[in-house]
Amino acid sequence: MAGPGMELIGEEEIEEVLEVLRAGYLYRYGISLGDGVDPRFQGKVYQLERQVAEQSLVRYAVAVNSGTSALLSAMVALGIGPGDEVIVPGFTFVASISSIVYTGAVPVLAEIDRTFNLDPEDVKAKISPRTRAIMVVHMMGNPARLQELREIADEHGLHLIEDCCQAFGAAYRGRPIGSVGDVGAFSFNIYKTITAGDGGMVITDDEEVYRRAFAFHDQGHAPLRQGVEIGKRPFLGLDFRYTELQAAVLLAQLRKLPELIDRLQTRKRHFKAAIADLPGLEFREVLDPEEEIATILTVILPDAEVAEKMAAALESKVVAEAGWHVYNNMEHVLEQRMATALSCSFSCPHYAERGGEMRYRRGMLPQTDDLLGRSINISIGVSDVGLGSGFGVTIHDDLDVVAERADEFRRVASSYLI
Ligand SMILES: Cc1ncc(COP(=O)(O)O)c(C=O)c1O
Repeated sequence: MAGPGMELIGEEEIEEVLEVLRAGYLYRYGISLGDGVDPRFQGKVYQLERQVAEQSLVRYAVAVNSGTSALLSAMVALGIGPGDEVIVPGFTFVASISSIVYTGAVPVLAEIDRTFNLDPEDVKAKISPRTRAIMVVHMMGNPARLQELREIADEHGLHLIEDCCQAFGAAYRGRPIGSVGDVGAFSFNIYKTITAGDGGMVITDDEEVYRRAFAFHDQGHAPLRQGVEIGKRPFLGLDFRYTELQAAVLLAQLRKLPELIDRLQTRKRHFKAAIADLPGLEFREVLDPEEEIATILTVILPDAEVAEKMAAALESKVVAEAGWHVYNNMEHVLEQRMATALSCSFSCPHYAERGGEMRYRRGMLPQTDDLLGRSINISIGVSDVGLGSGFGVTIHDDLDVVAERADEFRRVASSYLI
């Protein structure tokens, strides 16, 4: 098992893919430029972009080949680069951090709070004259404190980037996530709510950001490769294009999203209710249970010793030791290792000129370490060793199985919680 979208792959996805194969156009632009348009060409990538933009209540979307590409394109689109700092939580997938590094900017690690997302108070403390943006990450499907973070960004003239890779389908106070920041990035890898194996999306309501993100993802070209005449390309881009085959899978998955969210929320609600009275056990803070789409139920225990013993009894691990989502476990970040010895970012002269010098160390985020050290992730539809969610249920498990697993959790907890 990976994520819930994978679990729902069926005839609808197969039909969508066959349609593309039968038409014979695998490339997002269909046919060679200059030729007439064949009516059999479906434009699935374009359809996907339109649907995601509409669902997100923004005007623009660019489909790309991964969440990492989406984050990198988003930051390039905002003009983030050498000499800049971007504030990012110390609990996130490494791609949030590496995408900042490969723009040439420097990541500034900040604490999480009980939502397990960026702590606005620590963000304020980490702002320097070099700060250009705040990257909020909606970890494990739970929206962060977006209003506070938006206000901080506005007050200090910073960009707000939403890393929504783990939270496609979630909302914040009625606004789809990704639409509160200047730009949002999604991932469609196999652990995400909906998937096509890999994939990503940049969303924004700002036309200039859209044009720049599009250009970066497709060799510097104008959106949809219209007006691509020599002399009209704003800057050099790369190729992060998405394919018709993958977009076809995602179009089918999109139609399943409401059912998928319902399954996740129902199972989570039942699991939560069945263990809520355990003494000393708390849940991570969820701002609105109707708006989160978490594939994981995170419990916080009184101390690290209890959490470790319980995790071992459940054949799981505390989140701090769960894998690569914790800055303490990212040796390449801590040691500032890039692909080449003299890379611009940490050793960028523009950074030094602006008075910047970055050092990371294990234990530098005590609030984050404390929370992660006494938390356990219970799977509600995703199994990701990188998040330590070995114990739990799938979206196919019925409510009897949820009750059984919750009983098992209670039995283990009763030995350690008093
Ligand atoms: C928070 C977060 N950011 C970024 C990414 C990168 O997405 P992808 O794997 O599609 O490149 C992921 C994916 O795991 C993620 O969880």
